[in-house]
Amino acid sequence: MPRPPLFQRATVTRIVRETADTSTFVLAPCEGPFSYRAGQFCTFRVRVNGAELLRSYSMSSAPETDDELMTTVKRVPGGRVSNWLHDNVAEGDEVEVTRPMGVFCLRPAEGPLLGFCGGSGITPILSLVKSALATTDRPVRLLCADRDRDSAIFLDALDDLIGRHAGRLSVVRHFDDERGLLDADAVRAFVGPDGAADSYLCGPEPFMDLVAEALPGPGRTFAERFGTPAPLPPAPEPSSNGTDSGSGTDSGGSASGGGTPTTTIVLGKQRVTVRRRPNETLLQSARRAGLAPPFSCEAGNCATCMAKLTEGTATMRVNDALTEEEVAEGYVLTCQGIPDGDSVTVVYE
Ligand code: FES
Repeated sequence: MPRPPLFQRATVTRIVRETADTSTFVLAPCEGPFSYRAGQFCTFRVRVNGAELLRSYSMSSAPETDDELMTTVKRVPGGRVSNWLHDNVAEGDEVEVTRPMGVFCLRPAEGPLLGFCGGSGITPILSLVKSALATTDRPVRLLCADRDRDSAIFLDALDDLIGRHAGRLSVVRHFDDERGLLDADAVRAFVGPDGAADSYLCGPEPFMDLVAEALPGPGRTFAERFGTPAPLPPAPEPSSNGTDSGSGTDSGGSASGGGTPTTTIVLGKQRVTVRRRPNETLLQSARRAGLAPPFSCEAGNCATCMAKLTEGTATMRVNDALTEEEVAEGYVLTCQGIPDGDSVTVVYE
C-alpha cells in the first residue's frame, strides 16, 4: 500500500489559549484522522517572508483519551515558526503538517512512571500521562519546573487528571521565582525510593542535562529533545586523486564506475549521483549534489529529513524519530544516515 505523503493539510478547528505565550492548535487533517501514539509530534511547514521553515511540535492529546488531535506551541523569543503560528493562524485556517512521528512513547513496564517537565516540555509528557493513566495501572509522578506559576502550562488539566485518577497521579511543582533553578538534590529527593522507575524527560537542554545526570538509576531514561542540533562532523574536502568529483546526473543506476561507492539521491524529478565522501551523511551528500531536501532539527529528532533507501544500507548515528517498523521498511533519517560499504540510493517521498 503506498505510504501517504509526508506533509498533509489540516484545518485548525480550535485554538485554546493555555498561557500568555502558549496555545494549543487543534488539528483536523483534511484527508481523515491521523493515527498516532501518545508522545509523538507533528512537524509544521510554513512560509515566513518567503522562506520555508519546519518545526516540530508535540501532541498534548492522547489517542486513548482525546477525540481531537492537539499540538501545543509555546512562543520562543525570536522563534520564527512559533511566533508566526501564534500571530497568523486563526481557527478555520489550514496548515501543513507531517503525519505524527517520534519514538518518545510509553515503553512497556511495571511500576511507577516518573515524568520530568521543564516549561513547555510538559506537552508530550501530558500526552504520555493521559495514555498511561488510561491504559495501565501504573502510578505516575511528575516533577514540573516552570519559571513561575503564570507560565506553567496545563495546571488545570493536570489537576483534573489528579481528581479523576485518585491516588495514581501526583505532581510536584517547582517555580524558579520562588526557589531558584531546579538542582540535582531536588531531582534526587523527588525520585526517592523509585530509582528503578522509568523516567521520561522533556524540557530545555540544560534542564534535561541536569535531570539526566542527577537521576540515581538504575531505571531507564527516555528524553525528547528538540534543542540545538549536535554539530555534525564537517564533510571532508575533495581529495586530490579525483575520487571525489562532485555531482552529476545519474544515467542509470548508481554504479561508481571506478569502484568508489556512490550515493544517489532522488528528490521529486531530480536524480543525482555523487561519489561517496567518508562520514558524510545522506543529507550532506544531497546538498553537495545541489539539491534542497527537507530538514529541520538535523539532530535525529524530527524525521523531517526522512527518505527511503531503495539500494544499500546506512547507519544512523542518532534515531529519536523513526519507529523500528519504519526503519525495517527502509526509511532513514538522512541527517543522521551514513551509508555503509556499498553504493546507496535514497528517495525522498
Ligand atoms: Fe530532524 Fe533529520 S532533520 S531528524
